[in-house]
Amino acid sequence: MTTADRYAVAGNPVEHSRSPLIHARFAEQTGQAVDYGRLLCPLDDFKAHIQAFAASGAKGCNVTVPFKFEAFELATRRTPRAELAQAANTLRFDAQADGGWLADNTDGIGLVRDITRNAGVPLAGRRVLLLGAGGASAGVLGPLIEARPAEIVMANRTLEKAKAIVDRHAEWAARHGVQLSARSLQDPGEGFDVFINGTAASLAGSGVPVGAQVLKPGTLALDMMYGPAAQAFLDWARAHGATPRDGLGMLVEQAAEAFALWRGVQPDTQPVLAHMRALVDAAQPH
Ligand code: ATR
Repeated sequence: MTTADRYAVAGNPVEHSRSPLIHARFAEQTGQAVDYGRLLCPLDDFKAHIQAFAASGAKGCNVTVPFKFEAFELATRRTPRAELAQAANTLRFDAQADGGWLADNTDGIGLVRDITRNAGVPLAGRRVLLLGAGGASAGVLGPLIEARPAEIVMANRTLEKAKAIVDRHAEWAARHGVQLSARSLQDPGEGFDVFINGTAASLAGSGVPVGAQVLKPGTLALDMMYGPAAQAFLDWARAHGATPRDGLGMLVEQAAEAFALWRGVQPDTQPVLAHMRALVDAAQPH
């Protein structure tokens, strides 16, 4: 009898996470023996919880708020994109003899794939506005740069935070020919091709914290959230002639990349995204 390899999403809170559903679909589709659950970690005891999970024979985990920075610190090896983000959403519990735990960050590649493949919007040569300078926005900037837009503006309420992240990515941006700058919410620029909201402003219920001049007709306006948390942003974008998109595609794509890192098999995201879309739509108030 073969037993399934165990994985989980670690966070606090974590009961709302849809990752177990997504990974169960990937496992079914690819014929992989994977058992993926939820791991609620105490806010002050992430390390011991993860170590106990690994010691019990688990193979890896995804990591969500607020532990992505701690997860990055726990690993002995880090992918270049995790290194740029200084945060990890994926750990693979490799044995010491194989180099030890590997930390990756698949959020950025998930976002880029959702924009370029699922939404069919090219990033190369385009102008991109990335709102926010917290973990969510910092986590995606490296892969966004790799997609070689002409320009990326990172705008944040606290300008200094955006500046620090932009400085950290300056060499990466120069290497890829991307003009990268940090700006305030009062002066973010205008008429972007792609506008990505990585702030917690929607959750705070405080509306979109920049003016509609950042949009032009047909701008892809993407909020990294989905469900009710994204609704105000999506309505605002639609009302100003932009093409709204929520973070569900990014969620499924980042999961697929984590699955591939663990299992060596790339799942087909399309049927899983369609399934998740139906679930989220059914849960929305009408
Ligand atoms: P996460 O790790 O999920 O990104 P975070 O680190 O708390 O969360 O970052 C939240 C982001 O949302 C930050 O960019 C924050 O701006 P500050 O850096 O100035 O704090 C932004 N944010 C939160 N509430 C906001 C609001 N009401 N208006 C504008 N920006 C907001």
